[in-house]
Amino acid sequence: MITAYQATSQARVDAAMHTLFTAPSPELARLYDAMRYSVMNGGKRVRPLLAYAACEALGGQPEQANGAACAVELIHAYSLVHDDLPAMDDDDLRRGQPTTHKAFDEACAILAGDGLQSLAFGALLDPGLSDASAEIRLRMVTTLAQAAGPAGMVGGQAIDLGSVGLKLDQQALEYMHRHKTGALIEASVILGALASGRAEQDELKALQTYAKAIGLAFQVQDDILDVESDTATLGKRQGADIARDKPTYPALLGLAAAKEYALELRDQALHALRPFDAAAEPLRELARYIVERRN
Ligand code: IPE
Ligand code: IPE
Ligand code: MG
Ligand code: MG
Ligand code: MG
Repeated sequence: MITAYQATSQARVDAAMHTLFTAPSPELARLYDAMRYSVMNGGKRVRPLLAYAACEALGGQPEQANGAACAVELIHAYSLVHDDLPAMDDDDLRRGQPTTHKAFDEACAILAGDGLQSLAFGALLDPGLSDASAEIRLRMVTTLAQAAGPAGMVGGQAIDLGSVGLKLDQQALEYMHRHKTGALIEASVILGALASGRAEQDELKALQTYAKAIGLAFQVQDDILDVESDTATLGKRQGADIARDKPTYPALLGLAAAKEYALELRDQALHALRPFDAAAEPLRELARYIVERRN
């Protein structure tokens, strides 16, 4: 069950992203179709929601975070398109529909992912998507490049794929999760905060603590759902991690301890928000949602 805040924010980012998928010439129609297909196919939009909520927590207007919200969702969508490829997780179902390489073809899916990544950085610089100063935009580009790149999400994916069939200890598993999933979630919060144009250093620090905790909690819950949800609810194949012998939190700790850990991380996140007033309520709501969600 999603809240009115979540539904409004989903509609806001979808409207903003929609404008980015118009092919500049008929020759590129298929590539643009593949990019649109990979993005405008549902998805919970958790990262954009976090960007909006962080902007609002600092007293900003949500529209100021449109560029940030589009950017993080476009990076996320590209990462999923590539994650599902045969060379990576080899999945055929995503958000209840055929994965991009199944609906189109592998080369098209690779290029659609590449294209989405470039569009993401373009969105941060698009004057129609935010009123941020040049200095703030530079900080946002730097933050996103670090989070999405080899020292962030791409690095985490490399560790993930290099760990299949291995027994990782909790420290190594946490390192992998913090990179492959946590880094972009953290960036979503920081980008949203920066977009408000009002972020103070101590506020950014508190938000970073919040984001680190929910970033890890998000992947722990993703691992839990792979065990105990079902394919129809998930929109992706249940049991895919188990089938591929992926290192996950339930595999390492057992299901009950993994669930406890997710709740502990949620509480750490809520604790970090103590200095914030009622404007941070959407961020608090998202921390709870991340560990309670069923898909
Ligand atoms: C799934 O992300 C991949 C992970 C990083 C765990 P989401 O659960 O946010 O997927 P969508 O966007 O809602 O489909
Ligand atoms: C995906 O993790 C993380 C990224 C795409 C960066 P998973 O492989 O666990 O995501 P799902 O379960 O396929 O959505
Ligand atoms: Mg994967
Ligand atoms: Mg996967
Ligand atoms: Mg998963």
